[in-house]
Amino acid sequence: MSKSSPRAKRLSSKTVLQIVTGSIAAYKTPDLVKMMKEDGAKVICVQTDSSRKFVTETVLRTVTGERVYSDLFPNETPWGVMHTSLADLADVILIAPASANFIAKLAHGIADDLGTCVCLATRRPILIAPAMNDHMYTHPLTQRNMAQLKAIGYRFVDPVEGDLACGRTGVGHIAPLAAILESLVSVLKTGKKSK
Ligand SMILES: Cc1cc2nc3c(=O)[nH]c(=O)nc-3n(C[C@H](O)[C@H](O)[C@H](O)COP(=O)(O)O)c2cc1C
Repeated sequence: MSKSSPRAKRLSSKTVLQIVTGSIAAYKTPDLVKMMKEDGAKVICVQTDSSRKFVTETVLRTVTGERVYSDLFPNETPWGVMHTSLADLADVILIAPASANFIAKLAHGIADDLGTCVCLATRRPILIAPAMNDHMYTHPLTQRNMAQLKAIGYRFVDPVEGDLACGRTGVGHIAPLAAILESLVSVLKTGKKSK
């Protein structure tokens, strides 16, 4: 009986900086991290304050095996500028799940927390996996914000139709984790930088 050869690790030697925002889908982050790590990636998480309501720092630290960052002004020595240091070490920035709020801030160049500052301070590719209620997702403001980000080279893994946390069924359910992983591999292959 022939043994199947182990699959090549497509994210070997790559560092994924994952920004986790305040969507209910944040509870899926540990599974996504596990999949990226199995494919060879080093994963470092940045959390927004809201995301901490949905997934704890302890969980993310445990699954990544790395420190988790959320403070723009860490009280540490030696002093380092956190957002630029994080921006420099990433090969790709993955925003998953991406809240309507975070997408709106990015589209307007707002940099009022660690995650948004990292996004402005990097020239690495940025991949966004939105997750939200269907009315939030299809709202003209959200659609406009996403179009603006696409126009400057940000890539998206579109959400799918499914059961939403609010009890409705509609588009806004985070893309399947396997689809996010495939998009990440593709983004790193093409290596297109954000403007
Ligand atoms: C139970 C609950 C679930 C939420 N789920 C989502 C969501 O899936 N997507 C979204 O865009 N906002 C969601 N929100 C609202 C965000 O948490 C809120 O807009 C927050 O300010 C986002 O902050 P952040 O973008 O800094 O993470 C939810 C709020 C609550 C209370």
